[in-house]
Amino acid sequence: MLITPKHTIDEALSDVKSQLTRAAADNHHKMRFFSVSTLDLDTHSINNRMVVLRTFFNDWRVRFYTDFRTQKVLELKQNPQTSLLFWDSSKNIQIRMKTTAIIYHNDDLSKREWTHVQGEARKSYNSRLKPGSPIASPDEAYLWPAELSDEYFTVIDCIPFSLQILQLNRQEHLSLVFTRTDPAHEWNGGWIVP
Ligand SMILES: Cc1cc2nc3c(=O)[nH]c(=O)nc-3n(C[C@H](O)[C@H](O)[C@H](O)COP(=O)(O)O)c2cc1C
Repeated sequence: MLITPKHTIDEALSDVKSQLTRAAADNHHKMRFFSVSTLDLDTHSINNRMVVLRTFFNDWRVRFYTDFRTQKVLELKQNPQTSLLFWDSSKNIQIRMKTTAIIYHNDDLSKREWTHVQGEARKSYNSRLKPGSPIASPDEAYLWPAELSDEYFTVIDCIPFSLQILQLNRQEHLSLVFTRTDPAHEWNGGWIVP
């Protein structure tokens, strides 16, 4: 249990923030992987998928990496509204965020981040065939150019404007909601009925 009834609102926020900061640095942290939902405006349907938390910033910005050719980037270009979901099964805590995504591709920031992606990990952003392409057999996906480049490497930053924390605790769950209009502002909110 991370949040207890004795927590102040500020303590609850601060504990969640420090867990997310640790998750970005620790491969074994339960919140290292999270789900990102996007809206497909063509079909008016929602897609979600797991990604790796790469950085969690002091202003609660959430960073992950992807390939520019993926469906999620197509959707984010059309509509940057995203929803993130974190779950820590060791602490029984769920974190939900509504965010606005910013795409960094082929720019200074993505080139700087690319230097953190080393060796074989670079293959994840270098498949010869576009992610999502139909293939006759799995082998066809494992083709990479001799030179692994950052051509498709993309950094996505999600800026939260709404935050919901749910701490499970038998029959006495705890929940808090917050909003903010600007990432430079403090979170406004408090306890709600779970
Ligand atoms: C645990 C886990 C972590 C993943 N991490 C990433 C990631 O950091 N970036 C990414 O683009 N895809 C990641 N994936 C794959 C995505 O979930 C998804 O299948 C892929 O990116 C294609 O999604 P899209 O077609 O919706 O764009 C991960 C999948 C799992 C199961």
